[in-house]
Amino acid sequence: MENNNVGPASLRRLLLPSQICLIFYVLLLLLLTVFSPTVRSSASPELQIISAERRVDLSSHIIRVSLTLKVENVGTSSASEILLAFPPTQVDHLAWIKAAALVGKRKKKSSLPLDVKPSNVPDGPNGTKYYSVFLVNQLGSGESISLEVLYVLTHSLEPFPVEISQSESQLVYYRDSALILSPYHIRSQETSFRTPTNRVESFTRVEPTDRSGTELKYGPYEERSSYSYSPVIIHFENNNPFAVVEELVREIEISHWGNLQITDHFKLAHAGARQKGGFSRVEYQSRQPFSGSSSFKHILAELPPRVHSVYYRDDIGNISSSRLRIGSKKSELLIEPRYPLFGGWKATFVVGYGIPVQDFLFESSDGARYLNYSFGCPLAETVVDKLTIKVVLPEGSEDPSAVVPFQLEQRLEKKHSYLDVVGRTVVVLEKKNVVPEHNSPFQVHYKFNPIFMLAEPLMLVSAFFLLFAASIAYLHMDLAICKS
Ligand SMILES: *[C@@H]1O[C@H](CO)[C@@H](O)[C@H](O)[C@H]1NC(C)=O
Ligand SMILES: *[C@@H]1O[C@H](CO)[C@@H](O)[C@H](O)[C@H]1NC(C)=O
Ligand SMILES: *[C@@H]1O[C@H](CO)[C@@H](O)[C@H](O)[C@H]1NC(C)=O
Repeated sequence: MENNNVGPASLRRLLLPSQICLIFYVLLLLLLTVFSPTVRSSASPELQIISAERRVDLSSHIIRVSLTLKVENVGTSSASEILLAFPPTQVDHLAWIKAAALVGKRKKKSSLPLDVKPSNVPDGPNGTKYYSVFLVNQLGSGESISLEVLYVLTHSLEPFPVEISQSESQLVYYRDSALILSPYHIRSQETSFRTPTNRVESFTRVEPTDRSGTELKYGPYEERSSYSYSPVIIHFENNNPFAVVEELVREIEISHWGNLQITDHFKLAHAGARQKGGFSRVEYQSRQPFSGSSSFKHILAELPPRVHSVYYRDDIGNISSSRLRIGSKKSELLIEPRYPLFGGWKATFVVGYGIPVQDFLFESSDGARYLNYSFGCPLAETVVDKLTIKVVLPEGSEDPSAVVPFQLEQRLEKKHSYLDVVGRTVVVLEKKNVVPEHNSPFQVHYKFNPIFMLAEPLMLVSAFFLLFAASIAYLHMDLAICKS
């Protein structure tokens, strides 16, 4: 009987107020656990690095780092991106980054390029910045992937002593961490630094640390938690030319009459330890190669094959002491400034040349034209702080657009030269912190009405005709004066 009338009223009678409180409390706890942040983060992918190997090449003044990571998804949901972490000081000097997934087994290994972009994840502890590597296929729970990351750092070697005399060798500091900075737990890791010579003045020890010849090895370190960091300083000899182009302005002028005219304006500097005391040419020449070992006398520029009318001049005039070797794949110009460059010294010069236009100008399927030329600086192993490329299109070109494989600033300008009627459109591309890795092809597309091909000769003819008419008039006037 009693069981039959268990209604809300009888239930209320059965439960004491304290028991109701307890039920509410349990319900609240349940709600909290479902929506609490800790539980929610397990809904976002949980990754772990099984093994990491980092190789830092310090042999030039451009630092190249290669990082091999084996990442495992230890969470329950699948992951579509992997975060790479950089300390804020490194991010400012990061010039270039590339990532690839290693696929296939042993002999048939190949790499699949992946997109890497600055991440919009908020900064981590101590200002850590992130880059996202976007995976082609989602990484499911329990799966793992091998990644290869390459990146390039510039202006990261600090000369110490800051000033050296002509006979001294250049020593520099490099600062990094013995442990790889990562938002993920790293189970096993190892880092090696390669110095240019055997001369290493000092280095921080984070046991196990081992040095043999030009290799300095940190690790292996096991089970390091996320954001582990252990600063190290390496002080070593580096006499490689610290060639920095503070500014390079390259002008590429297209003429449909058969020529591509390139003019490069360089502002080159030696960014190594400053030269102390005067420069002695006698000592420099008699004590080679020991005197001024960190200086450089010449620098190699790589030009396209089939270059012609090459010139090289500075403020004073033409410099003839440059050697040009023309090859079928590339040409090489050995640029030799008037004096060797020591730390802190600068040289400003211009290199110009012509190339047959058909080597770099093509017609696309829709009838438009495009220039396909190499981005970057022609000088070997050089950092360009600021690169400006100006592509001067022929008169009458329309709808210009540039296709460049990385982010940079673009704008349009107008240029007027003699024989121009309406002026030429100039596509301006600007990029900071450029390294040799940026030397990849870029394209500038535009539409062109062939009637404009006649503009230049017409202007020439009319100018000639005007001159002719003027001289006739002058002669007539002259005669008139003679007669009177
Ligand atoms: C932040 O930097 C300080 C000082 O360098 C260091 O002691 C601390 O452990 C760092 N914190 C994290 C989370 O990395
Ligand atoms: C410099 O060299 C270029 C090309 O060889 C030549 O056209 C020009 O006249 C020279 N200028 C001077 C000042 O010698
Ligand atoms: C541009 O030239 C490079 C070789 O210099 C070539 O590999 C690439 O396919 C060319 N791109 C276009 C769009 O023609």
